[in-house]
Amino acid sequence: MHRVAISGTGIFTPEEVITNAELVASYNEYAHRQNKLHADAIEAGEREPMAMSSEEFIVKASGIERRHVVSKFGILDPGIMHPVLPERTEDELSLMAEISVKAADKAMKEAGLTAADIDAVICAASNHERAYPAIAIEVQQALGIKGFAFDMNVACSSATFGIQLASDMIRTGSARAILMVNPEITSGHQEWRDRDCHFIFGDVCTAVVLQRADEVQSDNAYEVLATRCLTEFSNNIRNNNGFLRRTREGHMADRRDMQFHQEGRKVFKQVVPMVAELMLGHLAEQGIEPADLSRLWLHQANKGMNDLIGSRVLGREPSREEQPNVLQDYANTSSAGSIIAFSKFSDDLPAGSLGVICSFGAGYSAGSVIVRKL
Ligand code: COA
Repeated sequence: MHRVAISGTGIFTPEEVITNAELVASYNEYAHRQNKLHADAIEAGEREPMAMSSEEFIVKASGIERRHVVSKFGILDPGIMHPVLPERTEDELSLMAEISVKAADKAMKEAGLTAADIDAVICAASNHERAYPAIAIEVQQALGIKGFAFDMNVACSSATFGIQLASDMIRTGSARAILMVNPEITSGHQEWRDRDCHFIFGDVCTAVVLQRADEVQSDNAYEVLATRCLTEFSNNIRNNNGFLRRTREGHMADRRDMQFHQEGRKVFKQVVPMVAELMLGHLAEQGIEPADLSRLWLHQANKGMNDLIGSRVLGREPSREEQPNVLQDYANTSSAGSIIAFSKFSDDLPAGSLGVICSFGAGYSAGSVIVRKL
């Protein structure tokens, strides 16, 4: 068995930003227009008027202040309310592959590796822009990597599950070094017309290089000491869009359930204990005391959730340095969230420092990765 390390990470952050103020202004204009359009039905009591969104609510309920998106065009137009992206030919690099390559370049540079050193590519994300060929194989070709590549999806836990899979493959010798990318174009499956969730998501791509620990060249590498994944079925976060859509009558219509929808309160209440238990059990199994941890890099969905999980794991409120949040600037970037936090806040710790990368989300799914700085 080989020891495994994360030797490089990279983030591609789209340039365009939507502030809460912009988001709320366009949503409220959309709601006004809908209420005007349905004024008679509302007047007759046959329809509820759409309620307005507010910046104060968004910050208080989630901690999110802004989000990056690949394109604002369409999202902020009250007559459209979703991103509008130009179609690409089959000869052009797909959007998910393009942002993956950008994040991967940074991660490979940090690891000090070239395409020739990588044996496999995993594209782990909560949605893939087509069924096949795999986005990962397109990324593999664009980077000139030999070996094999495949896509996987465990929603917000895709990256930690990807780390477990890559670590296991490196440990047992089926690959020496693996590139994992997490292109999350959440703006495509977000429902921008629903005030309960229109503020939640943002776009980004992260990349992680994993390799045999004894071959690491980077001076900012973390050994993967142990991984643990957990799933429990729940309909509380769901998206019904899928390849059988056209086979079912009425499913090609503009239906609410074909985008992200959730029971946010239930998710909050059920996922917090599930994740805290997973992390505490995983640490105990490895003989690590929570007090020995220097950092928690948690999934970035909601500041309140992170505060609670961190407090339950450490037995006290974590400081901002111990448990860095990026969701104020990025919002929920699905599987990429904990990797953004890790990538931005991991190079300052001394050798020997222990930390946990932890994701959670739809499925339900949760992944815990215990790491130690080399
Ligand atoms: N602006 C103003 N008011 C809003 C609003 C908005 N944008 N969205 C909802 N409200 C209202 C609700 O209608 C509700 O009104 P009511 O009390 O009259 O019924 C009130 O604010 C509280 O809404 P609620 O949905 O209960 O808020 P919350 O405190 O649970 O926060 C979430 C909502 C989604 C931020 C929170 O539940 C959450 O983060 N859950 C975790 C889920 C998660 O992270 N999912 C991501 C997938 S990984």
